[in-house]
Amino acid sequence: MTPALANEIHVWLMEVDAPPPALLAEWRQCLDTDELARADRFYFERDRIIYTAAHWLLRSALAEAGGLPAAAWRFATGPHGKPHIDPALGHDALGFNLSHTKGLVACAITNGGEIGIDVELMEPRRSELDIAEHYFSAAEVALLRAMPAARHMRTFFRLWTLKEALIKTTGEGLERALDSFSFAFDPVAVTFHPDDAAEAARWTFSELEPSAHHAMALAIRQDTRRPMRLVTTRLRIGGDGQVVADRR
Ligand SMILES: CC(C)(COP(=O)(O)OP(=O)(O)OC[C@H]1O[C@@H](n2cnc3c(N)ncnc32)[C@H](O)[C@@H]1OP(=O)(O)O)[C@@H](O)C(=O)NCCC(=O)NCCS
Repeated sequence: MTPALANEIHVWLMEVDAPPPALLAEWRQCLDTDELARADRFYFERDRIIYTAAHWLLRSALAEAGGLPAAAWRFATGPHGKPHIDPALGHDALGFNLSHTKGLVACAITNGGEIGIDVELMEPRRSELDIAEHYFSAAEVALLRAMPAARHMRTFFRLWTLKEALIKTTGEGLERALDSFSFAFDPVAVTFHPDDAAEAARWTFSELEPSAHHAMALAIRQDTRRPMRLVTTRLRIGGDGQVVADRR
């Protein structure tokens, strides 16, 4: 049990471009044989780097929250592939989720509920509206359409990351139709289709601005919603090639 996390969500994030080889080698030492095998299967080096950085970041965050060394954590997966901590380690209450995208890795840890995180690089798509019409709910498409075109990309990625954070929280992933729920803003809130106000009341969402080019959303589902403190640890690679932490 990790009392420090009782009413907290710990989010760790790191922008990653081309880490020094010595640092990458250090990160690899934390990974288990499955993770190393997965890392080595990526065709592009940039994908290997992001995967390795993400799994090192998660293990480092768990080490700080849960007291086991980074390399000691073992994982199992749920029915749709959501990873959780191996119950044999005795940290069942500790939940986490991991996300990586070009240039950024992030994870969230808590023992206050089920958690999901998503990060995306915000790069212009040929038509955000077409993608939205294909995947999002009618209400979300209407919300996008009502906006000036200059705001489409940002809003599209806000919706995308929120929707991914929700389906990653439940662990359903894309098994769940992305138009089976809608987000609205100011404040961020979800509506399920068909309507289920009791279920909607169990959810809390946060959006963070990890960089000028990335969107990030965090979701937590609690049987009884209570205030949670968000503690963000932002790592960066310093001039000496070592990782430096800024916490707030
Ligand atoms: C897992 C999933 C839900 C999200 O994937 P994603 O956004 O591509 O990737 P992310 O980097 O955010 O998350 C990947 C991590 O989530 C975790 N994960 C895997 N399956 C998961 C699941 N069912 N639920 C929650 N988390 C899961 C893993 O830790 C994984 O990391 P790993 O591959 O390094 O082990 C995936 O099923 C998915 O939906 N991919 C397609 C996304 C898409 O096309 N969305 C269209 C929206 S408009």
